[in-house]
Amino acid sequence: MSKLLELDYQIEDIDTVAKQILDHMSSKTVLFYGEMGAGKTTLIKSLVKLLGSDDDVSSPTFSIVNDYRAKSNSIYHFDLYRISDEEEALNFGFEDYLNTPNWVFIEWPQNAQNLVPEDANTIEISYKNKTSRTLKLSQKHNINPEKQQKATKF
Ligand SMILES: Nc1ncnc2c1ncn2[C@@H]1O[C@H](COP(=O)(O)OP(=O)(O)O)[C@@H](O)[C@H]1O
Ligand SMILES: [Mg+2]
Repeated sequence: MSKLLELDYQIEDIDTVAKQILDHMSSKTVLFYGEMGAGKTTLIKSLVKLLGSDDDVSSPTFSIVNDYRAKSNSIYHFDLYRISDEEEALNFGFEDYLNTPNWVFIEWPQNAQNLVPEDANTIEISYKNKTSRTLKLSQKHNINPEKQQKATKF
């Protein structure tokens, strides 16, 4: 695990922070860790907008995955909070979504620990105080070329 970026931020800074994250991201697959209310969905909303999508971002709690249309790619937004086991993820085709060159953002990846790819980035958000959060962006392993995120691409 190597650290790519660490910062504290307030909600007012969200778009600036999202831009900074995109600049430091090495993979198009990103695992979002952090307790309920930490700010995972809020950050994904800002990232999706920066990637050129006008689609409405909301937590896909009931549908498990939302599919947004960005400039040249799709963005798949998963919330695995409510899945009961990995078989449920397999049944809705989780692996098929992963095996595409599209962006993949996953909230609660720990609920499908054995299915999430090794060549992903992780974002851990923790509550600092009422008005700020601490965020850490890391790379887990080497990233396969087709999953690498290149800053020039968006
Ligand atoms: N850096 C921040 N500082 C303060 N409040 C934040 C920050 N980021 C997000 N929030 C707020 O915290 C809440 C996070 O909700 P949400 O993004 O749905 O969390 P999660 O998806 O992690 O459960 C929202 O009300 C949002 O406005
Ligand atoms: Mg959420």
